[in-house]
Amino acid sequence: APSDPDLVERARAARAALGEKAFVLGHHYQRDEVIDFADVTGDSFKLAREAAARPEAEYIVFCGVHFMAESADILTSDAQQVVLPDLAAGCSMADMAEIGQVEEAWAVLQDLGVAGDTIPVTYMNSSAAIKAFTGRHGGTVCTSSNAEVALRWAFDQVGGTRGVEGTGKVLFLPDQHLGRNTAVQKLGLSLDDCVVFDPRKPDGGLTAQELADARMILWRGHCSVHGRFSEQNVTDIRAQVPDVNVLVHPECRHEVVTAADYVGSTEYIIKMLDAAEPGSSWAVGTELNLVRRVAREHPDLQVHYLDKTVCFCSTMNRIDLPHLVWAMESLVAGRMVNRIVVDADDAHWARVALDQMLALPG
Ligand code: 13P
Ligand code: SF4
Repeated sequence: APSDPDLVERARAARAALGEKAFVLGHHYQRDEVIDFADVTGDSFKLAREAAARPEAEYIVFCGVHFMAESADILTSDAQQVVLPDLAAGCSMADMAEIGQVEEAWAVLQDLGVAGDTIPVTYMNSSAAIKAFTGRHGGTVCTSSNAEVALRWAFDQVGGTRGVEGTGKVLFLPDQHLGRNTAVQKLGLSLDDCVVFDPRKPDGGLTAQELADARMILWRGHCSVHGRFSEQNVTDIRAQVPDVNVLVHPECRHEVVTAADYVGSTEYIIKMLDAAEPGSSWAVGTELNLVRRVAREHPDLQVHYLDKTVCFCSTMNRIDLPHLVWAMESLVAGRMVNRIVVDADDAHWARVALDQMLALPG
């Protein structure tokens, strides 16, 4: 539905009043009404870099989810303040790895004598505490756009024989699908090299032998939005739409990315569609705000949603125009609201892991 014109007017006025003091970031899964006011849009990697590159902005208004705003706080100076327009905009995947559980898992690896050959790699979609754990143990953060280089780098750091062909292990947090898809599709590891550590079970539900043999220890986490896409969806759309190109996010299950033609981050998905042949057909497996927007922006393409049932990310959708207007008007009035602050010790070690990601080649 079109936004309330009064609210749009208030948003314009508040944005203009803030001027250069504020910088508004918008993730590609945000609503159109919010994206209209973003100074820059991007995937989580691009937004982290953009936040770090704006030292002049007093306020970073982050239209995305909590872990992205935390990362922006970590990457900006103490004088800069990061605002998340609705504090309830979390991420169910990030919530699947809790720091106490991760510390316990690490203790299991230590007891079995495999921790010394293991390096943690955490997906951006995790709390600052998990990123700090990763930094303390010499690992790196990654996003869906650099998971391959991050894993190659990680395998070069550990093991009696280093490298992807070597003997080291990666503890990959918290998205099992991104970890598995990258290890198998990009690094050439086998499905048998991957085990799933279930934090709700003793020893992760794994035997000592399974942990000793594994190369990728995948945390049992997933995205509830991307988890809905199935191999059947791919089969169905191929039957309905001849010559369809299937383009999915790497948070989808392994069978889905294996059946797809192209796999990549939200920014990659948008770039692929921007460069597509006019008249070509695409079935896109990611969040619906993004798919609808690219479909509208590309009337020359046939854009289908990979799953017929509507699927927004409910937490991304919490940031709506009323929340953005409230946040910006509060800042105009000199009232700080919904500031995201990471405690100093976590911020230090999380920054080590984030800086490691930013220093990866490519
Ligand atoms: P991107 O890094 O591809 O933008 O993904 C972020 C995210 O939350 C996907 O679910
Ligand atoms: Fe988290 Fe999935 Fe939403 Fe991304 S789409 S923010 S991973 S729940």
